[in-house]
Order: sequence, then structure tokens, then C-alpha cells
Amino acid sequence: MKILVVGGGGREHAIIMKLAESPRTTELYCAPGNGGISRYAKCFPVKATDIDGMVKLAKELQPDLVVVAPDDPLVLGMVDAMQAAGFRTFGPKANAAIIEGSKIFSKELMKKYGIPTGGYEVFTDSAAAIAYIKAQNTYPTVIKADGLALGKGVILAQNEEEAVEAVRDMIDNKKFGESSARIVIEEFLTGPEVSVLSFTDGTTVVPMISSMDHKRALDGDEGLNTGGMGTVAPNPYYTPEIAETCMKTIFQPTVDAMRKEGRPFTGCLYFGLMLTPKGPKVIEYNCRFGDPETQVVLPLLDSDLTQIMEATYDGNLSSLDIRWKQESAACVVMASGGYPVKYESGKVISGLDAQGQTSGVFVYHAGTKYEDGQFLTAGGRVLGVTSTAGTLAAALDKSYAAVGTIDWEQVHYRRDIGQRALKAKQ
Ligand code: AMP
Ligand code: GLY
Repeated sequence: MKILVVGGGGREHAIIMKLAESPRTTELYCAPGNGGISRYAKCFPVKATDIDGMVKLAKELQPDLVVVAPDDPLVLGMVDAMQAAGFRTFGPKANAAIIEGSKIFSKELMKKYGIPTGGYEVFTDSAAAIAYIKAQNTYPTVIKADGLALGKGVILAQNEEEAVEAVRDMIDNKKFGESSARIVIEEFLTGPEVSVLSFTDGTTVVPMISSMDHKRALDGDEGLNTGGMGTVAPNPYYTPEIAETCMKTIFQPTVDAMRKEGRPFTGCLYFGLMLTPKGPKVIEYNCRFGDPETQVVLPLLDSDLTQIMEATYDGNLSSLDIRWKQESAACVVMASGGYPVKYESGKVISGLDAQGQTSGVFVYHAGTKYEDGQFLTAGGRVLGVTSTAGTLAAALDKSYAAVGTIDWEQVHYRRDIGQRALKAKQ
């Protein structure tokens, strides 16, 4: 099989490495890819959001399978375009990707089908939103832009001043353009967070191993929200009983609801869950693999990813037996100093071999360039240093030992990835 993966981050690197394990895979292509990915797949400089350019590339390469990994091309309809051009494609069509593309759509879906989530109201007018906030007078409160906002569209306001500022920024100052013309004001939920990715063909849903993200930039969950500074899998809070509840009250009902709405979801559906005192509730859906969740989930997959991806397209996922390794995985993200706000790129990375790797771990490249035999930083999140082992503690030790041998000017990483999960286990 020749396979084209659309995207260029750590998640795509992890997808490519798992696809490479399949005996069916003959050629791997990635667009745009990055420095590290280029050591394992042939990369092409087509932007992930360039639908016409990507279809043109597919026509040249004639892949047997196309995998669209990032949210923006999915929401823009790249899967529709690829399938119209005759390519077997992994990922949801635009009318299903809206489950991530519009928070209002997803909240209304959950309300209509009784899927547990936080209470909410929708606003398009800032004065009405502010009046509601003042009347509620409960903090923290959660303010979300309706559309995609590069992962920055969620504000946890601690007081009235912050809440009012967030509303004004989003609706009046159009901070995220059309994405924040409509907002959701949502009940603040508490409890451990769990990420569960799943494979689905629109009818059958198969959850993957659970994971835990670390979204804040600094140790002790301080600092700004980021795309994710590290992950571990499995998530110790996600017990078999909770998994069973989630399957019954959230996973299957969501997939059924989308089908009933005439929007069958195929591909990877990501459930962002909060295990509240009143049971598991949905914080968000993503229409794709999470980043950096994928970097710890896919290494634990013990089945052929090419077969699973084809089955989501062919609608016969229920005929597969999908297996997982009984191990733990840990990914420590190494970022550019200053991320997620302002940072410099182009720093020479030391400690990597010619494949962009170092011994004892796998280094997924998130933002690197490969030039003259060297790897340079090229983004906020740069590397995801990942390992698997019999225990989480052992996986963390391996990842952190490798992190200590990799360096560049102003490198930043958290030193406490996995600590909360280790404590939960005791
Ligand atoms: P998102 O950008 O949708 O992933 O949200 C970012 C983070 O905001 C989530 O991972 C949660 O930690 C937090 N969050 C989102 N919605 C809520 C909520 N209703 N209550 C508490 N925290 C939330
Ligand atoms: N790590 C969270 C996400 O991919 O949205």
C-alpha cells in the first residue's frame, strides 16, 4: 500500500511510524511533514489546508489510502474532496467534522440526545452574554469560541472582570474572526480529565487506550494553556467501570446520534472527558487524533493500523479484533522557550542521530527542519520524546533520561509529566 498522510506534527509522525510497521505498507508520503518525518516518509511542501493542492498531489502519487490528520482540513472538507477524486480516505467528511468545528453544534447534539455534558447557553450579542454572566455570578465560568481557534478558544474566567473581557474580545473584537462571532458560556466542571480516542466507521465505535494530557505550559499545571506539553497512557483514573459507563452513555450514543442526524462519523473521534462527581461528562469532541495523545496511544496498538483505517472507510470495523499492549507509555514534549506565546525558531538541536533519534526512546518530531544533516527547531512544540515500558514510572524514567541528552538554546519542557498519574495509582 502507498499511503499519504496529511499534516506535519508529532501526531502525524506517530501515525506514520505505526503505518510503517504494517507488512502491507510499501510507500509512505507526508504533506507537508517536517524534518523528522522526512527521515521516514517522502515529504511534499503542500500546506495541510490546501485542498486543491493536496488532491493534485494525490493524483500524482496515486496512494491506496489517504489519512487526513489535522482539524482544519477536515472541517474544510478535504475528505469530501479526496473521496470525490476516488481516493480511499481516513477521516470524517465536513458534515461530521463539525462536531469539532462548531462547539454550538456539539452542545446541541449532546442536549438533543441526552449525552452528559456541562450546562450552557449560546450568545451572539456581548451585552446579553455579560448580563447572563452577572446574573449567574458563579466563578470560575467557561467561555468558548464556537469555531476553531488554534486551541486558544477556551477561557476559564476566574472572576467577572476576566469573563467580561473574554466576551468582549471574542464577540466585539473578533479575536478569532468568525470563529468567535458566536460563543458558548458553559458550566465549570471539576474532576480528573481523560482523553479517549476511538476508531469508528459510523456504526461501530472502538475506544483506544485512554490517556492523560498536560495542557499547561509550566510544572504544577501553572502557566498558559498549550496544545499539550506531555501525555501518558493509560490514564489511571479511567477504570474498567468508568470505561463501561462511557461506552453506554457517551461513545455509542454520540456515534448513533451523528448517524441519525445524517452525519455519519468515520475516522478517529476524540472524547475529551471530565470524570465529575456526578459521572463522566464530555468537555469537548475532536474530529481527529489528539496531539500529543496519539504519541502515547498508537505505540501501544498491537494491531495493523492500515487494516483498521480501511475498515473505518469500508464500514466493517466490527469484524476486526483490535489489540493493545499491556504496557505504559510516556511522551515528554520539548518546546521552544516562550511557547505558547512568543518564541524563536531555527535553533540547532544537539543530541539526535541522522534519523532524528536517540537510543532507548522514540523521538516524534513536532516542529523541526532538516538542513545540511542537522535538525533545527521550527515551531513551538519541537519534539515528543516517547517511550513504553512495563510500568509508567519506568517509561517516564526512559523518556526523561533521553530528554536530558537533547538540547538547544532556550529549550523548555515540563519536569512533572506523569506525576499526577503516578500519585493516582498509589
Ligand atoms: P479545549 O481547548 O476545548 O481542549 O479546552 C481546554 C481545557 O479547558 C480543557 O482541557 C479543560 O481543562 C478546560 N475546560 C474546558 N471546558 C471546561 C469546563 N466546562 N469546565 C472545566 N474546565 C473546562
Ligand atoms: N491534546 C489535545 C488535542 O489534540 O486537542
